[in-house]
Amino acid sequence: MYRYICLNLLVLLCVKTAQCQKKNILFFVADDMRPELGVFLGPDFPAPIHPTVHSPNLDALAAQSLLLKHAYVQQAVCSPTRTSLLTGRRPDTTHVYDLIHYFRNVGGNYTTIPEFFKNNGYRSIGMGKIFHPGKASGFDDPISWTEPYYHAPDEKFRSVNVSWRAVSKDEYKIHPLPDMQIADNAIKVLNRVAPAAKSGHQNFFVAVGFHKPHLPFLFPEEFLSLYPRKSIRLPYNPYIPVNMPEIAWSNYIKEELGVYRDISSLHATGAINTTLPDDVVIDLRRAYYSALSYTDSLVGKVMAELVMLGLADSTIVSFWGDHGWQLGEHGEWCKHTNFEDATHAPMMVRVPGLTDKGLVTERLTEYVDLFPTLVEAAGFDPLPLCPEDSTTTALCREGTSLMPLMQDPTRKWKAAVFSQYPRNNDTVMGYTLRTDKYRYTEWPAFTMSPVYKPDWNKLYGVELYDHSVDPQENYNRFGDPLLVELVSELSSQLRKGWRYAQPPGTMRGQ
Ligand SMILES: *[C@@H]1O[C@H](CO)[C@@H](O)[C@H](O)[C@H]1NC(C)=O
Ligand SMILES: *[C@@H]1O[C@H](CO)[C@@H](O)[C@H](O)[C@H]1NC(C)=O
Ligand SMILES: *[C@@H]1O[C@H](CO)[C@@H](O)[C@H](O)[C@H]1NC(C)=O
Ligand SMILES: *[C@@H]1O[C@H](CO)[C@@H](O)[C@H](O)[C@H]1NC(C)=O
Repeated sequence: MYRYICLNLLVLLCVKTAQCQKKNILFFVADDMRPELGVFLGPDFPAPIHPTVHSPNLDALAAQSLLLKHAYVQQAVCSPTRTSLLTGRRPDTTHVYDLIHYFRNVGGNYTTIPEFFKNNGYRSIGMGKIFHPGKASGFDDPISWTEPYYHAPDEKFRSVNVSWRAVSKDEYKIHPLPDMQIADNAIKVLNRVAPAAKSGHQNFFVAVGFHKPHLPFLFPEEFLSLYPRKSIRLPYNPYIPVNMPEIAWSNYIKEELGVYRDISSLHATGAINTTLPDDVVIDLRRAYYSALSYTDSLVGKVMAELVMLGLADSTIVSFWGDHGWQLGEHGEWCKHTNFEDATHAPMMVRVPGLTDKGLVTERLTEYVDLFPTLVEAAGFDPLPLCPEDSTTTALCREGTSLMPLMQDPTRKWKAAVFSQYPRNNDTVMGYTLRTDKYRYTEWPAFTMSPVYKPDWNKLYGVELYDHSVDPQENYNRFGDPLLVELVSELSSQLRKGWRYAQPPGTMRGQ
């Protein structure tokens, strides 16, 4: 009630009362960062790597955040996952399954997270990679921001055509890497918006999108010394799961890795159940960890400035990597699959006053949950759940606010979480479900015209992995005569979809 009055009528008065004061948001994104941080290690972690990744800054942020240990993306590739998170809706609602289509053209004119805060009077400022750049976002979705979008000049490094390179100090002193420029820009912007935010005159939503650890793995050379070559392990399972349907496989050479000269010169085919030579695997893993630690250092730099400016107590901080990444597990590379390694990704949310001592939840959560969470954490009324057809609904959610998990991180939560991945030029759609115990996937035929729809009667493959005994997903148990009933239950749960897997107490359809 007070909040309502304050919001609408007495904005100036509100400034003086803690209850009405809205919080700022600092919104970090990393590209292709799998949840390979010290704080993520645990019994169900798919493939603990050695040595432990050096991520002191993200670990410190996690220690003041709600750390979501089982957060899943809705589709493991850049534009679909970002579009989904930023609109709070799933790929079957955004209709973005690739790196070309723009949701406002093919899905609907949906309000995005930055646009929501802009519409509520915030200064909304974006930089680096937030949306997928270019046509896929109508060039960074200008309607989302109150200021011109910032991209770091990258001429010096754009033509790098090797999969990884450690950049010497002499070189980056003269030509700072793009993410270094983005961190510097973030610091400048925070300094610029701080006075108005502190006086209560205008809140900010500042989005800082780093390009690493995405390929090519470019990073300052000093990060390589954190990972002596001898210490890098090969993946435990460089082969496909037993009984895996071919449709589950992504050709990592054709999809992504093959564009780099050092990789194409290997003449690897990317064919099913192949991987790269051991020495290349080790080099790529080592470079990936180095790029991850470099990104971690930049998050730390921007966070230090937030604290220095006295904004830490009035600013919510969220961090997420846009999806997981396969580093040779199953022989796979990059993302583009429905496996745990591609769909499981790092996310944390720091809300001053609620998560200060650090909270960890093992509950299953989804990337679409972030939008409703930030809205409520900042002090706004909850978003309504989207109707079945939300094409013409500008503002709604297909996720669930994580605020109740900040009260009790062990409370009963979603029964299952959902991801998907298209194949064969979008004529097949792999739908996957993760419960506490299982991953279950069906690959039905799919049509976009006249309506977006799977044909559950025409399946190209089915997978069932039992995480309680097989966290690496090495044995597809589909077809086991003892598991017929389980398959039928999981199949029904998958086909009913996310609306039927809501946390207890949050009614379906409301
Ligand atoms: C989308 O909605 C915004 C208002 O939120 C409006 O300004 C814009 O014109 C709309 N775009 C289209 C293509 O309808
Ligand atoms: C990229 O590869 C081409 C040959 O394919 C080479 O001529 C060029 O110098 C390479 N660029 C860099 C930055 O290494
Ligand atoms: C995949 O490769 C592994 C190891 O090379 C081999 O043991 C396994 O039989 C292969 N699987 C298939 C289906 O070919
Ligand atoms: C993929 O589908 C689109 C739309 O149906 C079509 O225009 C395109 O030619 C197809 N591409 C391939 C490689 O089949």
